[in-house]
Amino acid sequence: MLAQKIKALITEKGPIPFSAYMELCLFDSEYGYYTKLTDIGKRGDFITAPECGPYFAKAIAGFLENKLAQLENPVILELGGGTGQFAQDLLSFLQTKVQYFILEKSPSLRKIQKDKLTGHDVTWLEEVNFANVEGVVLANEFFDALPVERFTEEGQQCFVTFQDNQLVETGTGQYFEKCLLFKEVLRPILQAFKRGFALVVDYGDERIERSTLTAYQQHQIVSVFDSPGECDITAHVDFTDLAEAFLACGWNIDFLKAQGQFLLEQDILPESGLSAENYAIKRLIDPRLMGQLFKVMGAAKI
Ligand SMILES: C[S@@+](CC[C@H](N)C(=O)[O-])C[C@H]1O[C@@H](n2cnc3c(N)ncnc32)[C@H](O)[C@@H]1O
Repeated sequence: MLAQKIKALITEKGPIPFSAYMELCLFDSEYGYYTKLTDIGKRGDFITAPECGPYFAKAIAGFLENKLAQLENPVILELGGGTGQFAQDLLSFLQTKVQYFILEKSPSLRKIQKDKLTGHDVTWLEEVNFANVEGVVLANEFFDALPVERFTEEGQQCFVTFQDNQLVETGTGQYFEKCLLFKEVLRPILQAFKRGFALVVDYGDERIERSTLTAYQQHQIVSVFDSPGECDITAHVDFTDLAEAFLACGWNIDFLKAQGQFLLEQDILPESGLSAENYAIKRLIDPRLMGQLFKVMGAAKI
C-alpha cells in the first residue's frame, strides 16, 4: 500500500516536502493514483469538461481553426490526455489537418487513449522530442494536477510526516499552496515551438491566496492524507504564476477569461437556446457550475 511505502520512506529519510508527497500520491510507479487510473467521468472520481459531451471540444475546435490557419504544417500537442475523449472529439470536428501529439505520464491512461484513438494519427510522448515546429499547445485540467508546495500563513514550508501511524503535515493554522513547477514543466514544451498558440483551461484565478488543495474520491471530497494513491489531489491554478512561466519562455499572454464567457464567445449555445437536454452545456457555462470557476488562458508566440 502507498501509505506504508511513504511511511517507510519518511522513516528512512525524514519528513518529505508536500510536493514530494503529492507526486507519490499521483504518480508513484506502483500505487500512484494516475499511474493506475482507468476512468474519468461519472464512473470515476471526477468529471472534466471533455467528459460532459462533445460541446467543449467543438467550441475549442472552432476557436482553433482560425489559429491553425496562421501556422505552417501545424501540430497540436495536448498535455495530459485523460481518457482520450478530448482528442477524439477535437479530431472529429477539426477541418485543418494536424499532426496530433499527447504528452501523457500515466501508463494506464496512455493505454486507454491508444484504444480509444485507434485509427487516428496520434503520437504519444513522455517528453517532447520535436523542435522548431509550429502549432498549438492544449491543456485542460493539466496544471492543477502538478504537485504544489504547502506553506503556513507565516510562510513556513510544510512537510509530510506521520504520528501514531497516521500521515500528517507539519505546521498549524491556515495553509496556502503554490506550484513551483510551472517553468520547469513548460520550458521544454514551449521551446519546441517556433511559432504557436496555447490554450490552458483549468480551475483557478488570476491570483490564489487561500488554500484550494482538494482530494476527490468518487465525486466526494476526502482527506488528502487518509488514502494516498486512491484519490485525485488537485489545487487551483494561480494564473499569474502560470502566465509568468509562459513569459519567461518567450510567449505572450493574449487573454484570461472565465470558461463560460469563452465558450459563449465560441457560440456554444444551440440556435434554439438551452433546453433541459442541454444540461451538459449549462454545466460548462453556468457561473454557479463550471462557467466561472474555470478560466481559459490564451498565449502565443507569433
Ligand atoms: C485531471 S486529468 C485531465 C485529463 C483531460 N485533459 C481531461 O480534461 O479530461 C490530468 C491529466 O494530466 C496527466 N498528467 C498529470 N501530470 C502530468 C505530467 N507531469 N506529464 C504528463 N501528463 C500528466 C494525467 O495523467 C491526466 O491524463
